[in-house]
Amino acid sequence: MTRPVVVAGLTGRMAGVIGRAVLDAPDLTLAARLSLRPGRGGDGPDGEFPGVPVVHRLADLPVADPVVVDFTAEEATAGLLEQARAVPCALVVGTSGLGDRHRRLLAEVGERRPVVVAANFSLTLLAVTRFLRELAAQADDSWDAGVTDLHFAGKRDRPSATAGHLAAAWQGSRPGAPAPEIASFRLGDALSEHRVVAAGSGEHLEVLHRMADRRAFLPGVLRAIRYAAEAGPGVRSLEDVVGAPAPGPR
Ligand SMILES: NC(=O)c1ccc[n+]([C@@H]2O[C@H](COP(=O)([O-])OP(=O)(O)OC[C@H]3O[C@@H](n4cnc5c(N)ncnc54)[C@H](OP(=O)(O)O)[C@@H]3O)[C@@H](O)[C@H]2O)c1
Repeated sequence: MTRPVVVAGLTGRMAGVIGRAVLDAPDLTLAARLSLRPGRGGDGPDGEFPGVPVVHRLADLPVADPVVVDFTAEEATAGLLEQARAVPCALVVGTSGLGDRHRRLLAEVGERRPVVVAANFSLTLLAVTRFLRELAAQADDSWDAGVTDLHFAGKRDRPSATAGHLAAAWQGSRPGAPAPEIASFRLGDALSEHRVVAAGSGEHLEVLHRMADRRAFLPGVLRAIRYAAEAGPGVRSLEDVVGAPAPGPR
């Protein structure tokens, strides 16, 4: 038996990449695509999902208890979470720019459903996060850090959720120290670049993470889907997902 997956967003770049990966995964089924904008429909820009139904509300899904994957926009994610109060499903949420309202909704939905939420689903970025925490914890008081984020012109959130996540990783290991400064650039068509500069007395270091292809998010996203399909209620991070034993075939 395969796990049913629903991907939110019809024309989205991440929705397309994730939809194709789900189609290719032998243990997953792309059960439907969900557009939270009324009036949208069809097989996608190039008809790449023939036969996969499009629905506009969770309540209209053709399967019970799917994993719903959401890489869309803040307003769409808020609407999805509100619907998920009433419709049994697991959620994998990667949308950027989530605020307090989303956090409240995530906590509420997480009381009854498995939810995985991450600012960045790259497993490499997760390793960078862990390294930063360790560095910050052992660095003496002479050390400070700053983060830059470079993304394509038109990216909606600024600073990026990942830049905030990296700054929080540093600050979380240095209680009372100032938060790292974040500088954001929205230029050209660069997909995503994050640089952390940390400096102390007599030495400094830079960590650069550059994302050139959205498919690099897939190992983390697919792992989160498989985890969410099996997990009990609760809001989990990518770190929780990676720390859990990988689910076996069903
Ligand atoms: N966490 C991570 O690792 C990660 C990685 C990459 C991207 N992201 C984030 O994922 C999100 C999507 O990225 P993308 O590059 O795929 O963006 P995109 O190509 O602009 O796609 C946006 C998607 O959001 C939907 N959408 C936008 N506004 C909406 C609204 N008002 N109501 C309903 N649906 C709406 C669209 O749905 P329709 O097609 O149905 O109109 C579309 O599918 C962004 O927030 C991005 O920052 C996160």
